[in-house]
Amino acid sequence: MNSKIIIEKKIKNKILAYNEIKYMIDSYINNNISDKTMTLFIKAIYNSGLSFNETLFLTDIMIKSGKVEDLSFVEKVTVDKHSTGGVGDKTSLIVLPICASLNIAVPKMSGRSLGTTGGTVDKLESIPGFKSELSHKEFVNIINTVGCVDICQTKDIAVADKKIYSLRDKTGYVDSIPLIASSIMSKKIACSSENIVIDLKVGKGAFMKNIKDATKLAKLMIKIGKYYNRKVICVLTDMNIPLGNNIGNKLEVKEVINFFNGIYDKRLYELIVCLSSYMVSISKKISFNYSKKLVLKSLKIGSSKNKFYEWIKYQGGDISKLKIEAKRIEVMSEKSGYIKSIDASKIGYLSSKLIGFKVKDLNTGIILRKRIGDFVEKGEVIASIYYNKEVDNMISILKDSFKYSDTKPKEKNIILKIIK
Ligand code: URA
Repeated sequence: MNSKIIIEKKIKNKILAYNEIKYMIDSYINNNISDKTMTLFIKAIYNSGLSFNETLFLTDIMIKSGKVEDLSFVEKVTVDKHSTGGVGDKTSLIVLPICASLNIAVPKMSGRSLGTTGGTVDKLESIPGFKSELSHKEFVNIINTVGCVDICQTKDIAVADKKIYSLRDKTGYVDSIPLIASSIMSKKIACSSENIVIDLKVGKGAFMKNIKDATKLAKLMIKIGKYYNRKVICVLTDMNIPLGNNIGNKLEVKEVINFFNGIYDKRLYELIVCLSSYMVSISKKISFNYSKKLVLKSLKIGSSKNKFYEWIKYQGGDISKLKIEAKRIEVMSEKSGYIKSIDASKIGYLSSKLIGFKVKDLNTGIILRKRIGDFVEKGEVIASIYYNKEVDNMISILKDSFKYSDTKPKEKNIILKIIK
């Protein structure tokens, strides 16, 4: 086989056979073709797309490029949760203990931050002592005693996706529906949970900018899931504005603690209840409404809060030692009016600069002090920046992300669509 001929075929929008896709992927992971050649292949897929069968082939080849987890030791029904990545997204830290408190096992692997979106592993590692790498024995013990565990995605899961994703990230070929579907599903299938709930973010701070494309992606992932005998539900959620009030690793853990103590942002609460209710519903095969009752009860009586503390302790974390070590500067509104929007992409950009890329500062980030629909007077504090190194124009970027109106804007629902 010849990579040039395969790439030409895809450029001409011809259908590729399993062996042709496999040849390209295997050659790339074995370093037999260069980043440059692989980029041409990815670009051809980006421009011409993939048929369903080709997407399935790519997913299958990526699953088989690594290890498939054996979860036969897990004593309870299993569910996994995935987020396509957002700004201020701390939902995993809350939905995992909710499900575990309701006797459902969530053996999760998470990633680190990508682009301007945060990563669950970084957030968890900001808790002093938290171990995101565990031995198999520790993993088994935690999942069977606590009910939820979250570790850094191991190197041997979907090996090809790891290398190709990093190349797509560098070359700007991320937002292709078949590439995203095969990337996410190869990891989720390899992690082996029976049920999967995907929080598919839509908007300025997300890879999917509109509901139409997000719907296509959701349907494709559900179809791939069906092929592998997995039940998949996609919840399309708004990511035009950051999720919750805190953005940044330790700051987000603080928001999670507040959440379990009954202090929360309304949109974050709605999303948590929706995602965890679907996770409970597909796992226990009961109605959404009944699942929601169980979730609300777990939050009300504090069993999910207790589960959260138990889980963090089992993975070595000590919440009592969580301290924000950063300078703080308040950002004031330059005008009076109702807050109409807070741009998630600008906030994501600023927080990723505050945190850093190679060496991350887990203390830094942003707290939004005002939300959409709030009335502010000129000079009122709208946000706080936590920093250790100043970022160029940080105050003006933050101010620019807030837009105002004279009339109170209508509330927008965070849940946009459910696709099953
Ligand atoms: N998340 C993934 O895991 N893969 C993608 O391609 C995009 C988002």
